[in-house]
This record gives sequence, C-alpha cells and structure tokens, in this order.
Amino acid sequence: MQYDLGFIGCGHMGGALATAAARCAGVRIALSDRDGEKARTLAAALGCEAVDTRTAAAHSRYVVLGVKPQMMAELAQEIAPALADSEKLVLVSMAAGLEMASIQRMFGAYPVIRIMPNIPCAVGAGMITYCHTMDAAPHVQQYLRLMAHAGRFDRIDEGKMDAASAVAGCGPAFASLFIEALSDGGVQCGLTREQALLYARQMLLGTAQMALENGVHPAEFKDSVCSPGGSTIAGVAQLEDGAFRGTVMRAVRAACERNRELGE
Ligand SMILES: NC(=O)c1ccc[n+]([C@@H]2O[C@H](COP(=O)([O-])OP(=O)(O)OC[C@H]3O[C@@H](n4cnc5c(N)ncnc54)[C@H](OP(=O)(O)O)[C@@H]3O)[C@@H](O)[C@H]2O)c1
Repeated sequence: MQYDLGFIGCGHMGGALATAAARCAGVRIALSDRDGEKARTLAAALGCEAVDTRTAAAHSRYVVLGVKPQMMAELAQEIAPALADSEKLVLVSMAAGLEMASIQRMFGAYPVIRIMPNIPCAVGAGMITYCHTMDAAPHVQQYLRLMAHAGRFDRIDEGKMDAASAVAGCGPAFASLFIEALSDGGVQCGLTREQALLYARQMLLGTAQMALENGVHPAEFKDSVCSPGGSTIAGVAQLEDGAFRGTVMRAVRAACERNRELGE
C-alpha cells in the first residue's frame, strides 16, 4: 500500500480532515474527488498526491469516505471492485446517519471506523466522536495517531452518533449564527463590524477554553458573571424572553432526527 490515508471526496469535511492529517510527520496521503481540480488544488496546498478515486481505493490503508450520505451507494458501486485485497485495509466513514453495518453492506465486509468530525478539525480544534467494528480494533490506534492533529477524539456507542453529530458536527453552524448575531448587536451599538466580530469570536473561544479547563457547569458560570441589577442579567433576560435555550434544544433535536432520516 502506497498511502496511509486515501481521501475520497475532498469537500468541506474531507478537506478539513486531510488538512489535519497532513500535519502528521511522514504521513502519505492520497486525495481524490469527482472534481479532479478540487483534489489537485488541495494536494498542492498540503503537499499530498492527487489521484483518481480508484487509485485511492486500491492503494490506501485507511480509505476515508468523504462523500454525502446520499452519494455513498453510488461511490460503493464505483470503488468496491478496486478496494485492496489486504488485511490492513480499513474503511473510515464520516457520513451522518449511516451505520457501520450499512457501510459494510455497500462496500464489503471490511473493518470500519465511523467518525463524526466537525469543521474545526482543519485548525486542529475539532471534536471527533468515533466507534468501530470489532475487527477494526487492531487498526484504531494507528488511525488516531495519524489524525492526532485534528483535535479531540472521544469513543462512543454507535447508537449515540446521531446525537453527537447534532451537537458537535452541526454545532459550528449554530455557533456561527450566534457569533453573527452578537456582532450584529455590536454594530447596532456602534462597533465596527471588524471589532464586533473579533470580540464575539474571541469571547466564545475564551469561554469554551475556560469551561473546558475548570469544568464549571454553564449555569454556575453564567451566575458568576451576572451581577445584581447589572447589564449581563439584563441581556440574559432578553435571551430567555426569546426562548434561546429552548430554541437551541429544538435545533439539536431537529438535526439529530435529520441524521436518522439520512441513514435510512
Ligand atoms: N460539513 C460538515 O460540517 C460535516 C460534519 C460532519 C460530517 N460530515 C459528513 O462529511 C461528508 C462530506 O460532507 P461535506 O460537507 O464535506 O460534503 P461536500 O462538501 O459536498 O464534499 C463531498 C465531496 O465529495 C465529492 N464526491 C461526491 N461523489 C463522489 C464520488 N463518487 N467520487 C469522488 N468524489 C465524490 C463531491 O463532489 P461534487 O461536489 O461534485 O458532488 C464533493 O467534492 C458527509 O457524509 C457528511 O455527512 C460533514
């Protein structure tokens, strides 16, 4: 096998993971996409090789399936005959909703690592949940080593993948709406867009970093920054009037349900 990782589909998520993987010293990566130019551009930026899809399938140890769930069956028809006949071959799926058993039905009975990554993997700050078939167990540590620069990995039961995906996979879009809204408010109050965006982004990063380090519950954190009769509690009251928390919970539920539908 010439490549450690062969990415098939170099769109948003495949591209982010390939970017993270390319930071691993000595790693051999093949990139392929239906749009050959997309793979070539990314390969040039990352110092990897752009190849055709069948080559990535035939010559990679970890074949990373980076296409939309709806495209997976078509991809399987295309590459299943080309997959290497090797005990080392492992399929890695990032497809929302698709169970490992479905991947094996489509591609063949190869070991499967199922991951649920998010876009911040591109900057090494991703949250990636994963599970794997029993026969993939001997291959997992090596995969985690290759992907060490993607962010934080957490192993979970497959039954919880759709929920994890709704929080961490879809979350960057939800958080971006929040950042945009904070900056709109800042502009309304007289900040430049540039100032407002910087303050909102750094605030969210700092809040998350501090909470990860000290483990304090969000309610306690919020209480600690709301002084009696102050400005922060005035803002919190507005968010509660707008059913902020209930709306976010419904967004996560809707995303989770949609993941389940995509897997059917
Ligand atoms: N985006 C996220 O935040 C996120 C988070 C977690 C998981 N995921 C999962 O990641 C996977 C990819 O999502 P994405 O957002 O990266 O999608 P995307 O941006 O559309 O990327 C998919 C890429 O694969 C290409 N492709 C499709 N069929 C192909 C084939 N048969 N052979 C080679 N290349 C093919 C597509 O080309 P065309 O553009 O020509 O179709 C596109 O360039 C999905 O399964 C999704 O559930 C995404």
